[in-house]
Amino acid sequence: MLGLGGGSVACALRALAPEVEIVGIERDEVVVDAARRHLDLDSLGVEILVLDARDYLARERRRFDLIIEDLFVGPSRSVRKPEWLLDEAYPAIGARLRPGGIVSANTIHEMPALVRALRPLARPIVSLDVRGYWNRVVVGGRDLPAPRALRRIMERHPSLAPLVGQLALRRRG
Ligand SMILES: C[S@@+](CC[C@H](N)C(=O)[O-])C[C@H]1O[C@@H](n2cnc3c(N)ncnc32)[C@H](O)[C@@H]1O
Repeated sequence: MLGLGGGSVACALRALAPEVEIVGIERDEVVVDAARRHLDLDSLGVEILVLDARDYLARERRRFDLIIEDLFVGPSRSVRKPEWLLDEAYPAIGARLRPGGIVSANTIHEMPALVRALRPLARPIVSLDVRGYWNRVVVGGRDLPAPRALRRIMERHPSLAPLVGQLALRRRG
């Protein structure tokens, strides 16, 4: 999990997959401390590394089944992905992915550029637009089901089924 923040995505992941090992990278110590104190972050059983994702990707040697990239910088009115992310981090993310692994990225305005960065690493690619939000989640991976099949899988899952109506799924490459 690149951009652990307060741990809300890690919390969802833990609920969906209780047995998995989760590694969370967050450079902002204040965020991690606040999440530990007020959001019970430590109860999630995440290996928390407080460091810059750029440094982490340069030094990590493990490979992962799923890499969730949720890195954003800047204040809320101009929140954006880090400058170095697409050219530098995405090739490094590809190197840390197991064969058949999945990459998921949260985007706002950067969805087309993100899809271009993801194409050499993980195809097919599906975008999930969340109705009523600017966020567009992009997911890629060799074994990723087509949008219609993915929707059916989510509809069958008790925790995901109530959310499916808010999502627009589209193949992106
Ligand atoms: C949208 S928030 C993440 C929210 C989080 N995924 C959650 O579930 O609560 C983006 C996070 O990326 C972190 N971030 C931005 N640049 C980073 C970097 N270079 N290395 C590590 N974390 C970074 C920010 O500090 C911020 O906490």
